[in-house]
Amino acid sequence: MADQQLAKSFEGIGEEYDRYRPGFPDAAAQAILPERVDAVLDLGAGTGKFTALLISRAARVVAVEPSAAMLDVLRAKLPAVEALVGGAESIPLPDGSMDAVTVAQAFHWFDRDAACAEIRRVLVPGGTLALLWNHSDPDCAWDRACHRVAHPAVSAETDSTTASAADELPGFIFDRRSEIAWSEQITREDYIGRWLTVSSFLAADEDTRAAMVAQLNSILDRDPATADRTTFTLPMVTEVFTYRAV
Ligand SMILES: C[S@@+](CC[C@H](N)C(=O)[O-])C[C@H]1O[C@@H](n2cnc3c(N)ncnc32)[C@H](O)[C@@H]1O
Repeated sequence: MADQQLAKSFEGIGEEYDRYRPGFPDAAAQAILPERVDAVLDLGAGTGKFTALLISRAARVVAVEPSAAMLDVLRAKLPAVEALVGGAESIPLPDGSMDAVTVAQAFHWFDRDAACAEIRRVLVPGGTLALLWNHSDPDCAWDRACHRVAHPAVSAETDSTTASAADELPGFIFDRRSEIAWSEQITREDYIGRWLTVSSFLAADEDTRAAMVAQLNSILDRDPATADRTTFTLPMVTEVFTYRAV
């Protein structure tokens, strides 16, 4: 099960999260829902960064999220979405009411087996479960180095985010994995601000956080792609795992 203290670190940061965190490419939503469906649930929806891409793809879009601060931002941005307080382990929706469930940047926080049972319960038979994460581009040395400041113990082998997208999830058959490469222009200030919304920065004490920010600045000062620049190109990869409910 995920570290609950880290999972709760998102509770109060709705506006900062929405301002600084990256969005998702539309191609990710297209890979999950190539055809329009009746109802889709975005679970662990946060401020609705991925939910927004579902609106044109379903008649009914529901967002479930435990943090009230996150949901306040989502409701203000996306009034057409039904926004419900709840967790993956106890989803406030009836059995068989959703054609698809999406989980962006959040599945690794869930109690996996309890969440899979709940997701299976709210899906129609044969319904789609999609898990997705944004990653740094492995070829972008300065961004990889900054990732190591936030997550010193994490390597490609030990990444608990995508590792939670196992081939076998109880109640589901693995369908496919897709990778979508994209990039964004980001200011140095926003790049640092983004790291301040990451769980390990949020959970750190003030001195540790200041030391971590100093390490980020030192990496950006040294790399030719970022040194002396106020704005730079950040390459990203979105990884999408899809499953069918059995
Ligand atoms: C990294 S944020 C991702 C938010 C949003 N999906 C996005 O991509 O911007 C992780 C989200 O998972 C939520 N979360 C944590 N534990 C959860 C649980 N057990 N059930 C549902 N959501 C949870 C957090 O409140 C937070 O909003």
